[in-house]
Amino acid sequence: MKISIILGTRPEIIKMSPIIKECERRGLKYFILHSGQHYTYNMDKIFFEQLHLPDAKYNLDTGPGTHAEQTGKMLIMIETILKKETPDIVLVEGDTNTVLAGALAASKLHIKIGHVEAGLRSYDMSMPEEINRILTDHCSNILFAPTNKSKDILLEENISEDKIFVTGNTIVDVVYQNLKKATKNSDIFNDLGIERGEYFLLTLHREENVDDYKRLRKILYGMKLLSNEFEIPIIYPIHPRTKKMINRFGFHTNGINLIEPLDYIKFLQLESYASIILTDSGGVQEEACVLGIPCVTLRENTERPETLDVGSNILAGSDPERILECSKLMLNRDNKWENPFGDGNAGKRIIDLLNNLWCINNGN
Ligand code: UD1
Ligand code: UDP
Repeated sequence: MKISIILGTRPEIIKMSPIIKECERRGLKYFILHSGQHYTYNMDKIFFEQLHLPDAKYNLDTGPGTHAEQTGKMLIMIETILKKETPDIVLVEGDTNTVLAGALAASKLHIKIGHVEAGLRSYDMSMPEEINRILTDHCSNILFAPTNKSKDILLEENISEDKIFVTGNTIVDVVYQNLKKATKNSDIFNDLGIERGEYFLLTLHREENVDDYKRLRKILYGMKLLSNEFEIPIIYPIHPRTKKMINRFGFHTNGINLIEPLDYIKFLQLESYASIILTDSGGVQEEACVLGIPCVTLRENTERPETLDVGSNILAGSDPERILECSKLMLNRDNKWENPFGDGNAGKRIIDLLNNLWCINNGN
């Protein structure tokens, strides 16, 4: 069995890392195809280095562009590589343009597709990620759903049950594999001059929040309200997309401590000791839940409803007063919820399943 692992952005590198490590550990035949959707050192290479991942065999250097430009370029280049390599299965993770391009290219070549983190839905069709998820799920042959809830969503969409496997989310594997290193190392607190438990952590990058003048202005004003009310630092490792838009709109970021995007260990360390996390990231909502840190999501919806069910997360949207109100609520939240995203063995389970299915299909 030859596996092609297709990835291209920060969260995909992080969430695919347990699967890549499992392929390495078992000496499987596989290769990494990097779309180059993310390309600056601290959004890309740093994670390969820190998580000890082998280099990608191919990097397409796609870079930025409109959705069509990015997806189209990748589709054409991925097809060429898949034709040359003829893998038995392509694995994609999540909901980015890289994921859709990888799945489409494979499907047109009749190569089997495994979708890691299948069955997530925000039911907001204006999000580019929602389109990518739905299309990828519906052209995949094996769907690795993180929870029973995501499996049920797939069943409701008439995807046949024999293709769906509940594995847990690989983010739990990554958190467990790196938490010790993260809690031991105290550099980031010294570097930033902050104390454990005495800061808020912010991440913000979603297109619908940061490319929209009014929404971004409201969210930044919400941060100012928080800073005035609590007088503690709000640490924000700023995503390059948001940096670009803040500069373009000429906004001030008073009350926010802006820093460059962090490596995984430092970021995990900051997450672990934050009073609360404010975010519009999918992965960060999950990590907050796994780590027992209350989360305020700066969106109207989430494709991670499990976090709302267990009480680790609240939807605040972009209204400044509501952000303040939700933050106050979450600061008092008892964090004894159960982690709904699995036991930290999702990567191993996914490779076991691939192996078993391969043996069955090939009569071994
Ligand atoms: C993409 C994904 C989003 C995911 C996010 C993870 C899609 C549609 N969006 O959004 O689902 O949550 O990645 O972070 O696939 N840039 C850099 N350096 C980089 C990468 C990006 O400077 O390494 C800047 C460029 O100006 C670029 C902008 O960020 O135009 C947006 O990058 P892009 O990959 O298109 O989308 P993200 O917002 O990162
Ligand atoms: N992350 C990181 N450094 C940072 C910010 C985030 O390592 O400065 C990690 C975070 O721990 C999570 C992932 O990046 O695992 C989330 O990526 P992002 O928010 O870009 O994308 P999303 O999950 O929303 O698709």
